[in-house]
Amino acid sequence: MKVLIVGKGGREHAIAWKVKESSLVKEIFIAPGNVGMESIGKLVEISEEKIEQLADFAEENRVDLTIVGPESVLALGIVDEFEKRGLKIFGPTKEAAKIESSKDFAKKLMKKYGVPTGEYETFYDLDLAIGYVKEKGAPIVIKEDGLKAGKGVTVAFSVDEALEALEIAFSIPNNKVVIEEYLDGFEFSIIALTNGERVIPLEIAQDHKRVYDNDKGPNTGGMGVYSPVDKIDSNIIDETLEKILKPMAKGMVKDGIPFKGFLFGGIMLTKDGVKTIEFNARFGDPEAEGILPRLKSDFVKAIMDLMENKDVDLEWDKRYTVAVVMASENYPKSSAIGSEIEIPKDLNSIVFHMGTRKVDGRLETNGGRVLSVVAYGDTLEEAKQRAYSDVNKINCKKLFFRNDIGSKMCYNNENK
Ligand code: AMP
Ligand code: GLY
Repeated sequence: MKVLIVGKGGREHAIAWKVKESSLVKEIFIAPGNVGMESIGKLVEISEEKIEQLADFAEENRVDLTIVGPESVLALGIVDEFEKRGLKIFGPTKEAAKIESSKDFAKKLMKKYGVPTGEYETFYDLDLAIGYVKEKGAPIVIKEDGLKAGKGVTVAFSVDEALEALEIAFSIPNNKVVIEEYLDGFEFSIIALTNGERVIPLEIAQDHKRVYDNDKGPNTGGMGVYSPVDKIDSNIIDETLEKILKPMAKGMVKDGIPFKGFLFGGIMLTKDGVKTIEFNARFGDPEAEGILPRLKSDFVKAIMDLMENKDVDLEWDKRYTVAVVMASENYPKSSAIGSEIEIPKDLNSIVFHMGTRKVDGRLETNGGRVLSVVAYGDTLEEAKQRAYSDVNKINCKKLFFRNDIGSKMCYNNENK
């Protein structure tokens, strides 16, 4: 088989790395990919947004399966374009991808299908939004409606902070804002492979969204994960599957917008059970880097079987993984481009590239999140020690990382 992977970050590097292990796959293309993926497949110089050019490429090169990484490309309708041309692609259509590209759309569906989530209201007007925040009080959560790479959300612990977030959100013309009940509890990420009818959960992970240690600073796309998450036992995973992922998938089929691809639930385990924080329409990043190295089964076979509506049974490595993200010094505000990186050859971890480039043979930073360093361990502690030991061997003046990935089993008010 020939497989095309669309994207250029750590998630796509991890997907390509896993696809490479498949016995079904003869050739891998990655568009546009990054230098870290050069040894895995052929990098194709077409940027992710050029969905027609990507479909032309897939047709010309007789690609058997395309796997899409980024939400922005799904929101542009890459799946619609490929399917129109009879090309096999794993991902949701533009309409189904709205579960991520519009918070309001996702909340309405959750409400319609009884999927547990926080109480909310959607606002188009600053004054009405201010009134609502004053009535509800803090803590409260302000979410801009569209795709924001994890940065359009303010978890406000005071009314003033919420009002400030509203002012910023409504300074953008025609912005739509969801104001949501604050959910207290233990957060985890669950990603399922689905064709709409069948929902096959992968092992779960816990992301670390805030930029600094001890959950300080603004939200990011994610600064590191660990997997599995011992605090979340199989009963809670079953509850998540039965109350959240399956009803959502079923509801979307019923509504004529079946979701095919990676259905990602950001879940809060609260004292009243599991509740949905958000849905994403694709694999998580860095969740992919933490979860896929634990998958023992053939990933491509699983996707193909699912697309043919066959049973899928996944086998997992029992070991823990810890993925530590190394980011540019001013991330998430800005990115340091062009700072040299030296990665020693003798690391024990897998180094997935998130935002790198090569200039005159020199590896450099090329984005906000730059590397994802992933280590295995028989215990969480061991995986953590191994990951940090390697992170500390990577040289780059402009990179920083969180020191506490996998250190705390709980980030919530219970513990504060
Ligand atoms: P989202 O982009 O919706 O995933 O939000 C980013 C992060 O903000 C989440 O991963 C949570 O850590 C936090 N967050 C979002 N919504 C809520 C909520 N209703 N209650 C508590 N924390 C939240
Ligand atoms: N790491 C969270 C996300 O991919 O949205």
